Amino acid sequence: MSLLEKLNWRYATKKFDPAKKLSAEQLDNLLSAVQLSPSSAGLQAYRVLIVEDQETKEKLREAARGQQQLTQASHIFVFAAETNLDEAYVTKYIDSIAATRGIDRGNLALFEQNIKGSVNRMAEDQKIVWDHKQAYIALGVLLSAAADMGIDACPMEGFEAGKFDEILGLKELGLTTSVIAPVGFRADDDIFSHALKVRRPKEELFIHI
Ligand SMILES: Cc1cc2nc3c(=O)[nH]c(=O)nc-3n(C[C@H](O)[C@H](O)[C@H](O)COP(=O)(O)O)c2cc1C
Repeated sequence: MSLLEKLNWRYATKKFDPAKKLSAEQLDNLLSAVQLSPSSAGLQAYRVLIVEDQETKEKLREAARGQQQLTQASHIFVFAAETNLDEAYVTKYIDSIAATRGIDRGNLALFEQNIKGSVNRMAEDQKIVWDHKQAYIALGVLLSAAADMGIDACPMEGFEAGKFDEILGLKELGLTTSVIAPVGFRADDDIFSHALKVRRPKEELFIHI
């Protein structure tokens, strides 16, 4: 299948087969794809929780309008934005660039100053919105990578973020839930797997200038 065929094959899975689990290799490949997601300035100001524990999945389902995907899917990816993006976070990131690429720390001073300037100009709530946006890009990468690997997923924002934060102890970790994706394999009788894609026509969606 070509990438376009795979993007047509994927769909927001409404019913997973609970008996089908991701192998350790499949899971690790998905983690690698998410790890490679681009982010603004490369800061990756989010973390991703991978929920496999059934009891936790059940609690999360209650906080997600009872949507069955949460308890049926093999794993739930919970994207969570950093709530304490500060100068120390940026310093650590710049250190990591210097170490990874063998660059003299001094040569990164201007870049560091620019990022810190951007971060400091934002109010706390603006920073969290910015972090949520980056998390959504990672979600997009997950969905495309899963499709490429023949793995099903359902992007979801139909849940109560405050309850998710509580169940997963995110406040203590300086995180808050952005968006989630149960991941696994579609049930044979999920009627949505054959539904045609409904999308805006290209002439309406795209504006060529
Ligand atoms: C950010 C986001 C949130 C979504 N939230 C839910 C959700 O809570 N429950 C659900 O069943 N589908 C959810 N969807 C799935 C969309 O309805 C679906 O992606 C859209 O209708 C397009 O269909 P397709 O993904 O099957 O091609 C969400 C999708 C996105 C991207």
